[in-house]
Amino acid sequence: MLASSAAQGTTHPGCFLTFEGMDGCGKTTQLRLLAQYLRERGRTVVETVEPGGTDIGRQIRRILLDPANTAIHARTELLLYFASRAQNVEEVIRPALDAGSVVLCDRFTDSTLVYQGCGRGLAAGSVLELDRIACEGLRPSATVLIDIDLETSLNRAKRRNEKYGQSESRIDDESAAFHDEVRKGYLALASAEPERFIVIDGRAGIGDVARRIQEALHDRV
Ligand SMILES: Nc1ncnc2c1ncn2[C@@H]1O[C@H](COP(=O)(O)OP(=O)(O)O)[C@@H](O)[C@H]1O
Ligand SMILES: [Mg+2]
Repeated sequence: MLASSAAQGTTHPGCFLTFEGMDGCGKTTQLRLLAQYLRERGRTVVETVEPGGTDIGRQIRRILLDPANTAIHARTELLLYFASRAQNVEEVIRPALDAGSVVLCDRFTDSTLVYQGCGRGLAAGSVLELDRIACEGLRPSATVLIDIDLETSLNRAKRRNEKYGQSESRIDDESAAFHDEVRKGYLALASAEPERFIVIDGRAGIGDVARRIQEALHDRV
């Protein structure tokens, strides 16, 4: 069902799927459901997350998400995201793809493009240059963008944070205008690369969204 990504810059026999969208859109929920769905169909699936995904990455994630770190400069933040990603590519993602696994990654370079690029005004060219260094040309085979309005996103993220304390803070603390830029940025990326992006309306129920993702991957990957 899931083909290799020979035309994605560097070749490997696996399939690299990334999940993108605003905090609370349902990335983590859907990533887990897709992993379960693919495992039931005999695939070897590796789940990972950015920032994080490795011991080193989790240490970097703590710095990035700590609300006390208001002094962090936009360029420092950018480099830390790519530092986490370089480690994850080297330690987890690339070996799994070389072994023919399906890798599901919760956020990847598209997040950096929209949050640090559109949101913080850093040039897309610099972000892509760092991507080439950190990821050595590795590109997602397909990217699931769960699109959702700001209000629903914030409500869901708030409820989840109260329940589980899984805040994506400091990003959570940004203004509505920032989040609006982020949503627009994601949709612009998706229209620039329609062959890679699968855009799913995230306002439907969890089961419906899961089915749409499965169907879209059947058709496209
Ligand atoms: N389609 C959905 N409808 C209603 N609630 C949802 C839906 N998808 C996810 N949720 C809930 O919203 C919260 C945020 O989902 P989550 O998967 O953590 O989002 P993300 O990882 O994108 O931040 C969770 O409490 C989750 O159970
Ligand atoms: Mg999540």
